[in-house]
Amino acid sequence: MATVRELLAEGLGRLRDSGSETARLDAELLLAHALDTERTAILAHPEAPVGDGAAERYRAGLERREAGEPVAYIRGVKEFHGLAFGVDPRAMIPRPETERLVDLAEAAIAERLLAAPRPASGPKLRVVDVGAGSGAVVIAVAAALRRRGMLDEVELLATDVSAEAISLATENAVGHAMADAIRFREVDLLPEWEVRRWDVVLANLPYVRSDAIASLPRATTFEPRLALDGGPDGLAVIRRLLDHLPDVLEPDGVALLEIGGDQEPEARALVGERLPGWSCALEHDLGGLPRVLVLRPPAAAA
Ligand SMILES: C[S@@+](CC[C@H](N)C(=O)[O-])C[C@H]1O[C@@H](n2cnc3c(N)ncnc32)[C@H](O)[C@@H]1O
Repeated sequence: MATVRELLAEGLGRLRDSGSETARLDAELLLAHALDTERTAILAHPEAPVGDGAAERYRAGLERREAGEPVAYIRGVKEFHGLAFGVDPRAMIPRPETERLVDLAEAAIAERLLAAPRPASGPKLRVVDVGAGSGAVVIAVAAALRRRGMLDEVELLATDVSAEAISLATENAVGHAMADAIRFREVDLLPEWEVRRWDVVLANLPYVRSDAIASLPRATTFEPRLALDGGPDGLAVIRRLLDHLPDVLEPDGVALLEIGGDQEPEARALVGERLPGWSCALEHDLGGLPRVLVLRPPAAAA
């Protein structure tokens, strides 16, 4: 029977040869997954023998990873904002930089609710996540609000143009006991039947330039192109959302839109062109890159 140490060494070699830049971590995660345990548990017991069934599952995972598949799809799970989300090719794997969007959303919502609490009998604060994918953003925001005891004061909608993404997001909401707290809709950007405006609009829409997609890491070829492709300048979908904002955002509302770390100049120019008079600030992610556009209508900007 092979030991943990031996199997990790085998995985490290195979994944390095296949071009993985995170070969050691990948091997550890895949072995822990095959053993149905935590990565820290296997690292603590390098001489432990691994049964043949687990070794076989591990090698099957290595094979998929060698073919370029992301570890998160092989494990079927990704940690995001301290929560575990089911992931598979129905939706993009949530990225760590998007945790900034969650923090900003939580702060914007909490600020509004502290200033004007919503009694159970009255209208709730309305929040929409456009392009929800796996549901990671809206569910992480909901979880943060639940911890603050504010979830009942908020109406949450999550949209995606992909039916497959909506099905995964709905499963994740059920997994986090949020099925009653969040509505999901398959729709292009926002539902036309919504008559009331939104207090907070969140979005991490596709923002990769079409001609840059081929140069992304191989793992991204396993993710839906619809989740990545932002058109010729990367801002085609975001541009369409900007054009909707004057009609859908409350005059004192805020829109928080994730962009690519190299898109600040183009994004600012776009806001100036499509939303004259609006305030436009940029928040940075933990890596120091400009990441989230913070947009407010002229009335609130003044
Ligand atoms: C970059 S992924 C982000 C997913 C998720 N919000 C996250 O942060 O992990 C973009 C998502 O936007 C969706 N999308 C693309 N075009 C859309 C549109 N016109 N209306 C609604 N959703 C759209 C894609 O299907 C995809 O799920």
